[in-house]
Amino acid sequence: MAKDYCVLGIESSCDETGVALVQVQGEALPLLLADALYSQIEMHQAYGGVVPELASRDHIRRVLPLTEQVLAASGRTLADVDVVAFTRGPGLAGALLVGAGVACALAAALGKPVLGMHHLEGHLLSPFLSADPPEFPFVALLVSGGHTQLMRVDGVGRYELLGETIDDAAGEAFDKSAKLLGLGYPGGPALSKLAEQGDPSEFKLPRPLLKSGNLDFSFAGLKTAVMVQAKKLALVAGVAVEALPVQVLADLAASTQAAIVEVLVKKSLAALSQTDLKRLVVAGGVGANRSLRAQLNAACAQRGVRVHYPELHLCTDNGAMIAMAAAMRLQSGQQAATHVYAFDVRPRWPLADLPVAS
Ligand code: KG4
Ligand code: ZN
Repeated sequence: MAKDYCVLGIESSCDETGVALVQVQGEALPLLLADALYSQIEMHQAYGGVVPELASRDHIRRVLPLTEQVLAASGRTLADVDVVAFTRGPGLAGALLVGAGVACALAAALGKPVLGMHHLEGHLLSPFLSADPPEFPFVALLVSGGHTQLMRVDGVGRYELLGETIDDAAGEAFDKSAKLLGLGYPGGPALSKLAEQGDPSEFKLPRPLLKSGNLDFSFAGLKTAVMVQAKKLALVAGVAVEALPVQVLADLAASTQAAIVEVLVKKSLAALSQTDLKRLVVAGGVGANRSLRAQLNAACAQRGVRVHYPELHLCTDNGAMIAMAAAMRLQSGQQAATHVYAFDVRPRWPLADLPVAS
């Protein structure tokens, strides 16, 4: 690999098409030249969740125009692309296949190498795109719609799983609770907005596995507790849950958020003590949650722990994190890009299965 090169990243694992171009210059932190994103949220809203087939078809429509947009914004052309990276998994099979197919076709046409990336590694390394990038080693709290994990991260590809959810992910807990409160899809941002008007101590909801003595999470029971509480209130009021007074819904939202956030904060602190590390990185969609950020910041400040987040718009899925993770992998020499354009995707792909060395 030359000393200076550009990596194009394509993300299409779920309901966002993301494309970005980063520049690698020697050992310096790769530089984001441009990124573009198309969110399919509006299209899926009518169905109350992601419809995989519609997601795949929309990725097909968006990916090339977004690539042109990114090249134009960075003042580059396809000839300047040295490596094409794409999300290989985990995610929706059909959606992943679009990004993989386009990335491999593009790379083959250009005679350039491709690199299939792990979506969670993208999230994990996304804080390196922020104005306040972390340094290794750190504890990572990865909280997305599909995953909730605590990891010890010693370098690119050096990830040790400390704990994870045994059922629903934190984002799923936000989304499912929001849905049953009639807040639509995606529920996380809607629930946290409503929670701002509510009293988090109004309803006593469980803090699952808080005292389990390990770093695992469980959120399925919390969602059920929210449902039972909401139905009880609706029954007494003689209305449907969605028709409960806004203040009651806001109190429920605030109490739900408080339960999720308390577990995430306490387990993160426990992971920091266990590893004796003084740096925490938060990544994934739920990392955009304001209450989580405020409470983590306060708790970590007290303990002399630095906390790093991705830029707000890079918390949820995007192409920049895929291009960045690919660039950092190439820099670390741990995984070479390949000129073999036969591709597969891995809809289920534990991060622990990632190769450390090429
Ligand atoms: O990382 P991401 O974009 O996709 C996955 O890889 O899953 O995360 C999406 C998740 C959804 O569950 C969404 O509701 C949640 O992140 N989310 C939030 C917020 N913004 C996004 N949850 C709570 N508060 C937010 N502000
Ligand atoms: Zn994601």
